[in-house]
Amino acid sequence: MKILITGGAGFIGVNLAHYLLKQKKDELIILDNLSRPGSEKNLAWLQKIYPHFKFIPADVRDYQAVVSSVKKIDLIYHLAAQVAVTTSVMDPITDFEVNVRGTLNLLEVVRKENPEAVFIFSSTNKVYGGLQNLTLSEKVGRYFLTGFPKGISETMNLDFYSPYGCSKGAADQYVRDYSRIYGLKTMVFRQSCIYGPHQSGNEDQGWITYIMLCALSGNEFTIYGDGKQVRDILFVDDLISAFESGIRKANTLKGEVFNLGGGKDNILSLLELIAWLEEHLKTKVRYKFSRWRPGDQRVYISDIRKAQKELDWQILIPKEKGLRKLLSWLKENR
Ligand SMILES: NC(=O)c1ccc[n+]([C@@H]2O[C@H](COP(=O)([O-])OP(=O)(O)OC[C@H]3O[C@@H](n4cnc5c(N)ncnc54)[C@H](O)[C@@H]3O)[C@@H](O)[C@H]2O)c1
Repeated sequence: MKILITGGAGFIGVNLAHYLLKQKKDELIILDNLSRPGSEKNLAWLQKIYPHFKFIPADVRDYQAVVSSVKKIDLIYHLAAQVAVTTSVMDPITDFEVNVRGTLNLLEVVRKENPEAVFIFSSTNKVYGGLQNLTLSEKVGRYFLTGFPKGISETMNLDFYSPYGCSKGAADQYVRDYSRIYGLKTMVFRQSCIYGPHQSGNEDQGWITYIMLCALSGNEFTIYGDGKQVRDILFVDDLISAFESGIRKANTLKGEVFNLGGGKDNILSLLELIAWLEEHLKTKVRYKFSRWRPGDQRVYISDIRKAQKELDWQILIPKEKGLRKLLSWLKENR
């Protein structure tokens, strides 16, 4: 197969590319504009191990660049995006251009030139908004969603919140609709918190890596909110295996949407991560508190039952194992 990964030098992209190249089965092309700090490093790492894959330094907003990269491709993973809510609030136009226009560029080229290609889209739990209307309960160290013991399913109302939520949500709906209207083999994966090696964690995105790095270097960081906010966390390898299952079943699952995260058995609050790090590093982690940021969800937990059933997928790297793997990778590679 000929495979294109947009955003292939980013965190998820480089892990996916490594996984695909290791198998030596497919021809891989990466398109990335290297706008995310750290993506050049990821790309250099990958090129050192696999010198022969094709890299296209281009922007998904550039229609002509997209036309030439998508021709004769069998499978497209569309991961390139403006990924931070905070950046989207500061510059909503760029966020829109990259996330909506960029996605539409790809879909249009696939529709016109390559309608048989499978199209995987990385969407986000932010399409469900802040979930402020749901009843929360609180225990020491974390929030719970009272009425949703299994988490948030794909039937939850869409409620785009923040420019990032709006742009990813619009793209998510375009991707889904291009299957409905044009019959394309598209699939939408609404990802919760994905973590693993090669993520350039910072204050705006990649909180597990960011907090681990601060803990390792002794730097103080800011918690926005009270630290009891909860996410279900999924190690990147398990995300890749869900993509793979979807691709194998693309003819029957085209147009489907899946919530993907660690689910109810792999949840973590900021304060719990800090406590975990203090125990494993035998050191005090330094942090301070600041106000909540716009669109911050107090709690988000994916209901992954649809993915488990229809993708025949299961999590192989649970929370404790994944956190240990990431921490030891960061110790060696930071
Ligand atoms: N990591 C997560 O927890 C998470 C959660 C939900 C959704 N997602 C989605 O998954 C996808 C990948 O996320 P990630 O964590 O790997 O992010 P990342 O920032 O590490 O990777 C994104 C890549 O896209 C590239 N890029 C950005 N704008 C581009 C443009 N205009 N043209 C071409 N390339 C461009 C960046 O240089 C970067 O290499 C994104 O679509 C993101 O919205 C990620």
